[in-house]
Parts: sequence; C-alpha cells; structure tokens
Amino acid sequence: MGGKVWSEEESTKFAKGIDVLENIFRQRLIHKPWLRIDWIFKLTSLYRQQKQVLSDTNASVDKVIQNRRQSHRPKAEKHFGQSDYSVSTIDEDSRPKERLAFLDLLMVKASEENSDMNDEVLRNEVSTFMAAGLDSTAVAFNWFLYLIAKHPDHQKLVTDELDLIFGDSDRPVTAQDLTRLKYLECCIKETLRLYPPFPAVSRYLSEDVQSGGYTLPRGLTVVINIFAAHHDPTVFSDPDAFKPERFLPENSFDRHPYAFIPFSAGPRNCIAQKYAMMELKVCLANILRRLKFSLVDPSAPLEIPSPQLLLKPKDGKCNLIVSKRLDIS
Ligand code: HEM
Repeated sequence: MGGKVWSEEESTKFAKGIDVLENIFRQRLIHKPWLRIDWIFKLTSLYRQQKQVLSDTNASVDKVIQNRRQSHRPKAEKHFGQSDYSVSTIDEDSRPKERLAFLDLLMVKASEENSDMNDEVLRNEVSTFMAAGLDSTAVAFNWFLYLIAKHPDHQKLVTDELDLIFGDSDRPVTAQDLTRLKYLECCIKETLRLYPPFPAVSRYLSEDVQSGGYTLPRGLTVVINIFAAHHDPTVFSDPDAFKPERFLPENSFDRHPYAFIPFSAGPRNCIAQKYAMMELKVCLANILRRLKFSLVDPSAPLEIPSPQLLLKPKDGKCNLIVSKRLDIS
C-alpha cells in the first residue's frame, strides 16, 4: 500500500481480526448452515462479534488510506495549489524514482470524474488485498518450511542452488536472480500442490453447465476441490510424496493446464499470483541463505483439521527447529 503505517500491534490485531472473520464465515458455511439465513445469524453473538471486528478492521484500513492521502497532499499543494487528491497530484518528477503503489492507482481512479470508486469501494478493495494477501502467503511459507525441514535432501539442493548464485555475499536478491532460482521454484510449486493454501474455491453458475455426463443447473453454487485435483494419482503419480522434480520443464510440459491450480483459474483467479511467487522466492532465498530448518521427529504425522477455508495445520502451527547455517561464513 506504499508505506508502513501500522505498528506491530496494529498489524497483529488486523491479522487476528481476519482470522475471526474467517472462522465466523466457516461456521456459517460448513458447521452451522442455519446461520446462513441472515435474520437468524443477526440474533447470535457471532453476528455481534463480526460487527465489532469489521468496525475495527475498517478503521485500520481507513488509517492506511488517510495516511497515503496525507503524504500526497503537500506535493499537490506545492505543485498545483490544490489540496484534493487528483490525478495531477502524482508528482511527475518523482515517477522514475518512486513507482506508484497499488493504493495510489486506486486513488487516481477514485479521483477521476464520475468514478464508481467511492470511499467505500476503495476501502473494500484495500481490505480484500490485505486479507487475501496476508494469510495465503503466510500459510505457504509455513508449509514450505515444514516440507524442507522434513526433507533435508531437498533442502540441501535448494541451498546448493542459492550458494551457487550468491556465494558468501549477502547482497539483496535481484530480478535476474529470480529467473535463476529454478529448484527453489520447483519446491515452492510442489508445496502449493501438496498443501494449496486455499483447498477449494466456489463458483455460482450463471448458466447450465455440462460436466461428466450431468447437467449442473444454472443457479447452483459449485465447489472446485483444488486439494483433490492436486492429489489425483492419474495426474501426479505417488501424489502424497514431496517430489519437486515434477515441476521441472521436462516433467511438466504435457500436464493439463488446470491440473495444478493453487491460484485458481479463469477470469477471477488470484490477481497477484506473479507477485506472490516473487514474494515467496525473495523471502525464502533470503531465509535459506542464512538458516537451516529441521524437525524433532520427521516421521511424525502432521494433523490437518478439515474442512477449512485456508489449509492450516492443527492449532495453526507446526514446530520447527531453526538454526544458523554453519556451512557459510
Ligand atoms: C501463495 C499465495 C497465494 C495463493 C495460493 C492465492 C490464491 C488465491 C485463490 C485460490 C484465489 C481465489 C480465486 C478464485 O475464486 O478463483 C485468490 C484470489 C485473490 N487473491 Fe490470491 N493468493 C495468494 C496470494 C495473494 C497475494 C499476495 C495477494 C495480494 C497482494 C492476493 C490477492 C488476491 C485477490 C485480490 C483475490 C481476489 C480476486 C478476485 O476476486 O477477482 N493473493 N487468491
């Protein structure tokens, strides 16, 4: 969103708020379907809790938006003698140095005449991005680190690749490095296959759909089970095994494009999938250049409660041993 506005405490509060909202949504969707009827839901304490959390998270998001508006105001006044945020408030001189943040783009759109992007829509867009981008990536990090802790041979292959590219230097990861981190990318994809952060997505059918000899009538909501697709033995042999090599080009060129869909597919798929892959690669490259991960008992099974909206381990955590890499200076 273009700046650090929240304290550590506020960030944690927001993340916890999203967790509460997700839990309430899950209760209505899966465990207590009678709460899908709005008037019944409104009689419950869950509704009151939802209202409170939404008011807190909205206030936090408004703070981010206000802060961004403020930081542009002096430039606008200096250059154009106006204090409203408008297209022209983006400082032309600073463009090459300072790239526009996502929030800036939304604000530019909001300031356009007859824009349908009013304050509420703006806040909803920002909330969606923050909520969709926070937990999904955190969960992916969690599963990746768990899997390479469980499979030290693969961890070694990843660190060998990193050492080849970075040596002893602690320079930042560049865009060019990202294209060279091929084995790391295979491990990330294999993680997203085994543990897709969103195990399922749903779609409302706006027209009849023919599928597998059946007609699914218009008006139906269908659930696409990403987890099951990723564990289909006819597509992925030995589907429960961690085999990053599956994603080497020579092993994946003839795979159906919809066989591996951690970011979903079609016009409403994840808007940030390239960004998410870059974020995972940069952070994991930095972490694994310095640290080593292991498990107390690699053969111990890890429990996943089901069903879930986001695929998390039981109690939301798995215990890893983290140590400094001794093979680097
Ligand atoms: C490993 C990380 C991530 C995974 C696995 C993931 C996966 C997904 C999935 C499965 C959907 C649902 C699409 C559908 O219903 O078909 C989605 C939607 C979305 N994601 Fe991600 N995502 C990730 C990271 C992010 C990040 C970092 C951001 C933002 C910076 C983000 C922003 C969004 C948004 C805005 C949507 C809603 C798109 C729409 O409704 O049109 N995601 N994501």
